[in-house]
Amino acid sequence: MSNSHIPVLLSEMLNALNIRDQATYLDATFGGGGYSEAILKSADCQVFALDRDPEAIARGKLLEQKYPHRFRIFEGCFSDLFQLAATNFWEKFDGIVFDFGVSSFQIDQPERGFSFRFEGPLDMRMSSSGLSAAEVVNTFEEEDIANIIYRYGEERKSRRIANAIVRRRLEKPFTTTADLASLIEKILGRKFGAQHPATLTFQALRIFVNNELIEVESGLSFAELYLKPKGRLVTVTFHSLEDRIVKTFVRARTSRVKGQSRLLPGEMATNQPLFKDLFPKGIAPSDGEIEANPRSRSSRLRVVERLYVSEVES
Ligand SMILES: C[S@@+](CC[C@H](N)C(=O)[O-])C[C@H]1O[C@@H](n2cnc3c(N)ncnc32)[C@H](O)[C@@H]1O
Repeated sequence: MSNSHIPVLLSEMLNALNIRDQATYLDATFGGGGYSEAILKSADCQVFALDRDPEAIARGKLLEQKYPHRFRIFEGCFSDLFQLAATNFWEKFDGIVFDFGVSSFQIDQPERGFSFRFEGPLDMRMSSSGLSAAEVVNTFEEEDIANIIYRYGEERKSRRIANAIVRRRLEKPFTTTADLASLIEKILGRKFGAQHPATLTFQALRIFVNNELIEVESGLSFAELYLKPKGRLVTVTFHSLEDRIVKTFVRARTSRVKGQSRLLPGEMATNQPLFKDLFPKGIAPSDGEIEANPRSRSSRLRVVERLYVSEVES
């Protein structure tokens, strides 16, 4: 078990952000602060950071003491960003970075209930509030549980798992991660060398409990409006569902607009793309990084540059 988080694709992220003196950056996923501190050390710049996890905020407060004039941490979700920007009079950023998903601090603490590797309460809430994973498996209808596991875990055996969950909870509700993981292992079996059979179900519950996919979309919408021209948006994703959202967002904003214009009468027609895709294939970790930090293995970094001030920004 670790009590730290090794930042993923760190030097690639720093290059992608194009960090300069006097510029302002938003690290929207503070976590252990690895990205924020590396950005602060790279230039005489300002960094604002966000996280929804109160424990990450406590770590951010320590970094505020170290860089009192250059760093500030804010508590909230990506979907709170517009509100935070309005309340705190944020100006547009020279760069925004999202390192999606969970930190090692979260996964490796049994009491947060993210991992089937440790016995802990079946929780999985990043912000420690709202519906827990235990409430989902103990109270949702079988069909809804199956749909969550299929949609957010892409688990083909979702119906069998949901049925087993609903039958088991009649005898005794689920309270721990190990309890759910061992039921899934009993139902699906475990092949030597393959990933744990509960992996996809745990991913699905985590995504659902934290509303992660809608949050990713909210974060990207914010970045679209709150980047200066030439500002960079850097994203690091960890699974295909997240990466698909980023790719769709980038594709829609890097190609010229086709078809009917949605402009109002009198507005100037424009079919200019909003972003330039600097690495259309994305950047994956090196073999060396994967060996040193196996958690980086499924990561992919994407970087786009904001091209011009659109009419929505006037
Ligand atoms: C992978 S970690 C970031 C690690 C960080 N880059 C570092 O170097 O330490 C992701 C962090 O983003 C936070 N997070 C995930 N989704 C969020 C959301 N929708 N709003 C705010 N924070 C979120 C998590 O709580 C977690 O602390």
